[in-house]
Amino acid sequence: MPDSPVRRPTTTDIRAAKDVREPLACLTCYTAQMARAIDEHVDLILVGDSLGMTIYGFDTTLPVTLDMMVAHGQAVVRSTRSTFVVVDLPFGSYEASEEQAFRSSSRILAETGAQAVKLEGGVEVAQTVRFLVDRGIPVMAHVGLMPQRIQALGGFRAQGRTPETALAVIRDAEAVAAAGAFAVVVEAVPVDTGKRVTEAVPIPTIGIGAGPHCDGQILVIHDALGLFPAFTPRFVKRYAELGAAMSDAAAQYAAEVRSRTFPAPEHTFKAAGGVANPAPRDP
Ligand code: KIV
Repeated sequence: MPDSPVRRPTTTDIRAAKDVREPLACLTCYTAQMARAIDEHVDLILVGDSLGMTIYGFDTTLPVTLDMMVAHGQAVVRSTRSTFVVVDLPFGSYEASEEQAFRSSSRILAETGAQAVKLEGGVEVAQTVRFLVDRGIPVMAHVGLMPQRIQALGGFRAQGRTPETALAVIRDAEAVAAAGAFAVVVEAVPVDTGKRVTEAVPIPTIGIGAGPHCDGQILVIHDALGLFPAFTPRFVKRYAELGAAMSDAAAQYAAEVRSRTFPAPEHTFKAAGGVANPAPRDP
């Protein structure tokens, strides 16, 4: 019997998470094999521009291009059946104008098959969010710590820690929600700020380092699996140590090659009908 069809959630399903008690479980993911492994377990996959750091080894997300996002978005959509997939708009692909944002977003949706795009910003991008949503592009926003503004912020620092900056994060979330975003990522803010943002907006808040009151949680998958040794933010819980497991496996492989214990007989082919002698060479 053919597999029963699996329906991916829609933006309506994601929005409905605001009204239920169970938070949305979200992870970033960038590659086919990892996407296959997590597809049945999470509600939403973000093909985040964090891939610049986790996959490509850059220090920031700034060098990430639209072509990279499209290629990784395609790999993830191709390898999943039941998860809502969002692809990040990278730095420089949407800030110049609403038209630029539409061109980049429509390319992502058309070429990857993802369900939505994500962009960073609050009050200042609300008009762009409205422009995209009015033209059929589902948008997830991202407030609080915005990694694409790392040069202006002077580092990966928690936001919304004073009464004034907490209010600014809330105003940002309200602005993108009013502009039509279906969900908003809230990154690196104190627990109380995460709670106030969640109470202030009618759309799901997806927290990363924003405390337990958000309507969903997201982690960068390389952080969660112990695959990103450069640094581990305070808000990350490591659910596996795959980096150490990979290093151990490579060390064991190299030792077995050098000691000729690999390949063993079970890893070799047997010739069918014996080995033919080489033809004598011409004198
Ligand atoms: O790019 C990314 O992975 C993100 C997450 C940190 C939410 O934006």
